[in-house]
Amino acid sequence: MVKIAASVLNADLTKWEQWLPELEKARVDRIQFDIMDNKYVPNTGVDKKIISELRPHTKLFFESHLMVEKPEEHIREFSKIGNQLIIFHIETTPDPLKLIKKIKNAGCRAGIAINNKTPAQKIGPYLSKVDLALVMGVDAGFGGQEFNPYALGKMKYLKDIIYDDGLECLVEIDGGINAQTAKTAVENGADILVSGTFIFDHPKGIVQAVKELKKA
Ligand code: DX5
Repeated sequence: MVKIAASVLNADLTKWEQWLPELEKARVDRIQFDIMDNKYVPNTGVDKKIISELRPHTKLFFESHLMVEKPEEHIREFSKIGNQLIIFHIETTPDPLKLIKKIKNAGCRAGIAINNKTPAQKIGPYLSKVDLALVMGVDAGFGGQEFNPYALGKMKYLKDIIYDDGLECLVEIDGGINAQTAKTAVENGADILVSGTFIFDHPKGIVQAVKELKKA
């Protein structure tokens, strides 16, 4: 069954005591924190303090998606505040292997992401070094955007390498994921679906939203 990562980008972070139990009841697999510097992307994302605030209250897997110009400057801090996985964008570093090593030396799993317009070929050579490859279904920076089907072929390309080379790297899709796009995403190789708006704005609530995504 496909795994679900709830992105809290568009959630009301002052009401976590209401939605955190709902995420657990819905049996999401991860919580994703979108970290932005208003430079790599024109937005400020979630305030990192929510990570340490939530950490003592849940056993859920935490991953931080760094959409920042200098990810290497954030690794130590983000490994200490409770993340199990740190994802960086290939577009933001001249030395992915050095950054992957830094993340792992800090005790976290490493994820590598490609933005909406970046071809999957850019991260093919690193799949054997990372635990996760994140394909953006939208332009990084904002929740609630429309899914771009260009992401589907990218996931297939990555999955073919992972399969052919016997790798353990997971493929995650992020941006514009709802009950409809989840299905095509899974058909094209997604192991993990990141969803924010669909989960937190669903008219029937978080548990129903996650149930619909898990059917994909
Ligand atoms: C974009 C963010 C979003 C967010 C979830 O930079 O990474 O993709 O996690 O977006 P929606 O609201 O489309 O699920």
